[in-house]
Amino acid sequence: MDRTLREAVLQLFTNADSYLSGEEISRTLGCTRTAVWKQIHELRSIGYVFDAKPRKGYRLRERPDVVIPEEIHCFNGAKQIGKTIRYVKSTASTQHLAHEWARQGANHGSLVIADEQTGGKGRMGRTWHSPPGSGIWMSFILKPNIPLIATPHLTLLFSVAVTRALHTETGIDVSIKWPNDLFIAGRKVCGILTEVRAEADRVHYCVAGIGINVHPASVKHLPQPVRETAVSLGEVTKKPLRRAQIVASCCTEIENLMSLYEEKGFSPIRTLWESYAFMLGKQVTVRTSDGTKSGEAIGLDQSGALVLKTPSGTERIYSADMDL
Ligand code: BTN
Repeated sequence: MDRTLREAVLQLFTNADSYLSGEEISRTLGCTRTAVWKQIHELRSIGYVFDAKPRKGYRLRERPDVVIPEEIHCFNGAKQIGKTIRYVKSTASTQHLAHEWARQGANHGSLVIADEQTGGKGRMGRTWHSPPGSGIWMSFILKPNIPLIATPHLTLLFSVAVTRALHTETGIDVSIKWPNDLFIAGRKVCGILTEVRAEADRVHYCVAGIGINVHPASVKHLPQPVRETAVSLGEVTKKPLRRAQIVASCCTEIENLMSLYEEKGFSPIRTLWESYAFMLGKQVTVRTSDGTKSGEAIGLDQSGALVLKTPSGTERIYSADMDL
């Protein structure tokens, strides 16, 4: 399969507002009409629907909800993030594949995405339910030029980026639960797992694993009582959603926020994060490795730690699980 040609053909149909003839396409792309026909045939076999009219050519009428690179590239305007994509139909965890690829020298912004994960990983050693065709299970490889101590900033940056992307694509107000769980009306829609490899005190690379429940099937078979605490975008919008467009939007937001971070540091990211966080000003309880702490969540400090006002003073929380 010639993936580059397939991508170019798909891009032409995406941008066209009427029929395109085989002749026109082959001239534009500098290939034979047989090659064009072969690509249309292959696209049809994976669910793209083309209308064909004699003397007019073809028109793309329907696209399937797939997360293949060609489909994501059609919508991704980012320059680096998501420019190189590895897609697998099924894998244990995209985190494993991303680490492997990073060790082999993947570029900054490379993306691993799967239609299904059979051993999805969550934070704190939990599992992440990732049934086929129902959600976005992806891991970005990022190579920011930052010291190890600044890595909490990245985690917070990803949660802001995905919150914004989900709002752009669905109109839904998503909010953040510290540090980086995304919620809709009290139910979790997305989880983010950031894993970092460092050399001395510099970050060598970071793998940002993002799981988004898109269609209702992503949460349908979650065991109780977890099912009660989870939600999919589709259950809220009740409209058809395209995973590839959501992925592309995440790429754009991550790229924009990483540029902002490089230029202006953590302050603007912190302000954005705080504007989406739903627990600020509320009493929360966190479970850290040295016990449970309760207090009023008042914001983030410059290192990205959560600041709690407790009866005995101010506490900074670096890593914990939070109860509401
Ligand atoms: C959490 O909320 O606990 C984090 C969940 C992270 C899930 C994503 S899905 C894509 C990537 N691959 C994994 O195995 N985990 C992350």
